[in-house]
Amino acid sequence: MLLKAEDVTMSFGGFRAVSGASLTVTRGEVVGLIGPNGAGKSTFFNCLVGDLKPTSGRVWLEGHEVTNASPEEHAKLGIGRTFQLPATFEELTILENVMVGAFLRHPHVRQAREAAQHVLELTGLSDLADQKAKMLGTPGRKRLEIARVLATEPKLMLLDEALAGLTPSEVQKAIELVRKIHSSGVTLVIVEHIMEVILSLTDRVLVFNQGKVIASGAPADVVNDPAVIEAYLGRSHARRQGTH
Ligand SMILES: Nc1ncnc2c1ncn2[C@@H]1O[C@H](COP(=O)(O)OP(=O)(O)OP(=O)(O)O)[C@@H](O)[C@H]1O
Ligand SMILES: [Mg+2]
Repeated sequence: MLLKAEDVTMSFGGFRAVSGASLTVTRGEVVGLIGPNGAGKSTFFNCLVGDLKPTSGRVWLEGHEVTNASPEEHAKLGIGRTFQLPATFEELTILENVMVGAFLRHPHVRQAREAAQHVLELTGLSDLADQKAKMLGTPGRKRLEIARVLATEPKLMLLDEALAGLTPSEVQKAIELVRKIHSSGVTLVIVEHIMEVILSLTDRVLVFNQGKVIASGAPADVVNDPAVIEAYLGRSHARRQGTH
């Protein structure tokens, strides 16, 4: 078992953003996490990587309990996550941004640079290496966010809407990149609203609604599950009527 999260609850004041969620991930899997806006997906990710300490519940990474470990300890143990809003250093070059991740395993500048260059090749950013991050558009930014995490050499990567905001052809290219990352040996948990991405990449899907896992199973079955359709449609109907 690579990751095990048991009965994780995260409360903000009296509000339970995540409510008793459990997840186990085996090495080599690609697991999808779907659910409407505000369902608690990003908050759950935060609890898995040490950015938030769960109010209750426990998390293990390869058998080590990491429930209360720092984000740095999580990264060292091999779990990395992309941020829904890319966390780039705007004034640094693209190479330097990726080196920030590479320093985790390569404390010397030369080795960190080489490792970062390798990641830039894999992610198709080599030609832009010396440009400042602020020059990047959405697709480049999404790639850089993936590259920064990849440079920490994770065993398990959590992608939080890493393909959101891309055009259909950019989505196709990004799917190829995610496949390449997976075949290089990285286990993946993917939060994504684009069903095509979930259906084409994942082996298994969990559905979040109001902080709870309401369904799980094979991607094609889950997207046809009435409870899942209800969770999505309920929200979009409400939004259309201006009540959300
Ligand atoms: N730091 C916080 N303090 C208070 N409430 C928070 C905090 N972080 C998240 N929430 C709330 O928790 C709920 C879950 O938010 P979260 O961002 O985890 O949802 P999500 O499933 O990732 O949604 P989306 O698909 O829109 O990204 C929301 O109601 C959000 O407003
Ligand atoms: Mg989110």
